[in-house]
Amino acid sequence: MGKVHEKIDDRLRAFIEAQPVFFVATAPSGPDGHVNVSPKGIGGTFVILDEHRVAYLDITASGSETIAHLRDNGRITIMFCAFQGPPNIVRLHGHGRFVTLYDEGFDELSALFPPTAGARAVILVDVERVSDSCGYGVPLMTVEGERDLLPPYMERKGVEGRADYRRLKNRTSIDGLPAFDMDPSPAEPTDVSAH
Ligand SMILES: Cc1cc2nc3c(=O)[nH]c(=O)nc-3n(C[C@H](O)[C@H](O)[C@H](O)COP(=O)(O)O)c2cc1C
Repeated sequence: MGKVHEKIDDRLRAFIEAQPVFFVATAPSGPDGHVNVSPKGIGGTFVILDEHRVAYLDITASGSETIAHLRDNGRITIMFCAFQGPPNIVRLHGHGRFVTLYDEGFDELSALFPPTAGARAVILVDVERVSDSCGYGVPLMTVEGERDLLPPYMERKGVEGRADYRRLKNRTSIDGLPAFDMDPSPAEPTDVSAH
């Protein structure tokens, strides 16, 4: 049944790396505001850096709740569910930070993942609690494949198109907290070639 682990050991690593989808939960500080949970898991966009550190590629999309909440308080939980094989749920609780495509170090960090059009940041998480639980209620499901829609959609927009999209959709969270507001104003050239 449920157990707290000291670290992401080899068995947990194998389970986590085999999952095609995971969920990221964050929340703004205080009693109000909207708690967020986002599905993630586009192929190759999650890595275990060591026994207490993980990272994933954050792709330009219609919202930017996770970055807003990391800016606010850093708290983050990542959940993996076994939809195939032995039942299991693994939760990684911790604190996260992010390195955007405009920050020093982004190229080295993003090289940990396959090239993915539209990457706007790498989310880095210091994992403070590693736990699993039975997963008996999680249904068995078969993966038919990725939809392969988000990265191609972002690729078609091009560098400036993605920056415009983020200026429109990603500057604040749904509660109005600052989110991905790092794109330079449209008059300034966007100093990135690939992202
Ligand atoms: C099944 C599924 C998988 C997804 N995988 C990713 C992913 O790997 N990386 C990503 O940044 N967004 C992914 N998205 C989009 C996110 O769920 C989310 O809309 C977007 O990243 C904004 O996240 P945020 O508001 O939590 O910052 C996926 C969406 C779905 C439905």
